Amino acid sequence: MSSQSNKSFTETERDRRVLELYDQLIEVEQRLIPTGLHVFGHPSEAAERTDMLRLIASFDRPELGVRALPDLVSENLGLGSYDAVLKFASSDQARLSERERIDSVVSAAIKEFLHSGSGAAASLLEHNANVDRGDSLPVFALLEEISKQLETNIEIEALLRALRGEFIEPGPGADIVQNPAILPTGRNTHAVNPYNIPSTMAFARAEAVAGNLLERYLAENGRYPRAIALVLWGLDNIKTQGEGVAQAFWLMGVRPVRDALNRVTEVEAISLEELKRPRIDVVMTISGIFRDLFSPTVLLLDKAVRLVAQLDEPPEMNYLRRHVMEQVRHDACFYDDAVARVFSNAPGNYGTNVNFMVIDSQWDRDQTLGDLFVTRKCFAYGRDSEGRSVEGREARVAMDQALRRVEATYQNIDTFEIGITDVDHYFEYLGGITKAVETRAQARPSIYLSDSLSRDARIRSLEETVRLETRAKTLNPKWYEGMLKHGFRGVAEIESHVSNTFGWSATADAVDDWIYTEVAKTFVLDEAMLERLRTLNPHSAHSLVGRLLEAHGRGYWGADVSLLDKLREISSSLEDQLEGVA
Ligand code: BEZ
Ligand code: MG
Repeated sequence: MSSQSNKSFTETERDRRVLELYDQLIEVEQRLIPTGLHVFGHPSEAAERTDMLRLIASFDRPELGVRALPDLVSENLGLGSYDAVLKFASSDQARLSERERIDSVVSAAIKEFLHSGSGAAASLLEHNANVDRGDSLPVFALLEEISKQLETNIEIEALLRALRGEFIEPGPGADIVQNPAILPTGRNTHAVNPYNIPSTMAFARAEAVAGNLLERYLAENGRYPRAIALVLWGLDNIKTQGEGVAQAFWLMGVRPVRDALNRVTEVEAISLEELKRPRIDVVMTISGIFRDLFSPTVLLLDKAVRLVAQLDEPPEMNYLRRHVMEQVRHDACFYDDAVARVFSNAPGNYGTNVNFMVIDSQWDRDQTLGDLFVTRKCFAYGRDSEGRSVEGREARVAMDQALRRVEATYQNIDTFEIGITDVDHYFEYLGGITKAVETRAQARPSIYLSDSLSRDARIRSLEETVRLETRAKTLNPKWYEGMLKHGFRGVAEIESHVSNTFGWSATADAVDDWIYTEVAKTFVLDEAMLERLRTLNPHSAHSLVGRLLEAHGRGYWGADVSLLDKLREISSSLEDQLEGVA
């Protein structure tokens, strides 16, 4: 904005920008964030439950005969579909007011529910938005059940039973918003039936996400991406019943086919007439956990690639086939190498190690991180042309060739619980593959993440996601004060968010200068805060300051000289404290 601040905008342009800014503020405000760590055996606090219940009530649950509250309110106020209201709220003032009206009725209903119970909340909705009690009461019945389960916690008892070798009741593993049936916690989590992957629901939901991803690239680049590298994780595909897998299918333009036993064992091509766009080349990196949990799915993904590569279609409508042919003709690849698109670790191995290299500051050249990613992940899975199973064949050249053509990298985010700066795994995977693409394609790819749980299946660039995470968590007093309540461990969490943010500089150059500057101001230059950190956990405080200095030293942060001097001084005083000199 700053370079344009002197220009005068037309009124319409000004209004558009204000609306956009407002939309971003709502996004930060409504983001569900953890306000502390989970303490084993402790139920969540009442205040934490309010936001959670509002979010749970904002999704349709056809399997339970429960409608989403915002939809009920929107429809009964005569405003039509809530999705349409949301879609236009960032560009149309009238729609924005409608959105605010709906959201405020929903919030009031949740408050009334917590305060006076289901009957009172249903009356409020009936009175304020003409919502039939027959529609709203099932929603509140669900919320009542969830509330009760959130108040109880059997984790300690279950642990003791486990230690005594006794039976522990099984329960599904998922995100609480996606599937409230995970409650109560403290049960023996069971995962998934890989033959039901992707579920019908997951395949249906993935269409919008894959579509939005392609539309976003198209809007920014004037054409569809020819090849996308995507990351698939095991736990995520458990939680979503295979949404990531389904997105890969949509990008290639195939659908899962079930056999007589209702198992997903085949794929078929969606016709180009139906697809109305080219088939995208998809280079998949799967985690070791995914490989172990989803063997039939790994074979199915490879089958989809081989099917699409064999379709007799024009090259401009089938990028996958086009690239495979190019690899065979120009890169002198064997067909089985040219068609390899499902990559993981060698059998029995896990992870990329890119996170360790970054956190330990053990790299000097930019390309080292991408090369490490490929070294760890260049093992092809699927079947060969003779139908023999291939379980981790080293295929480094094939992976290099496939990555050379990649124009965008992408990972599906399907949870409100863990974001891209909470753990180092997002940057090791999505960042690692991005760096690998950058050196092989000799261009930085566009980098995207989805928010597949958001109502509008939103796609964000990596830079936007880093900003959002920083505003909603790292720099948000609600978040860091929640962490600081945990003392030593809380400071370590703050430090680890800063290091994970740094990971996005190292792998993808995706962190704005202001982020490091504000982190420095909030946690180091504020004397009272620094005092708290150094008292609670001087080790993490020292690492945090060191990480900021490293961000500057490696060229990720253009900081003021005086600010840097101050950081160096504080760093050495922390060092003295740790060495017992001070
Ligand atoms: C997985 O579920 O595949 C996964 C979990 C943690 C880190 C990386 C991958
Ligand atoms: Mg920068």
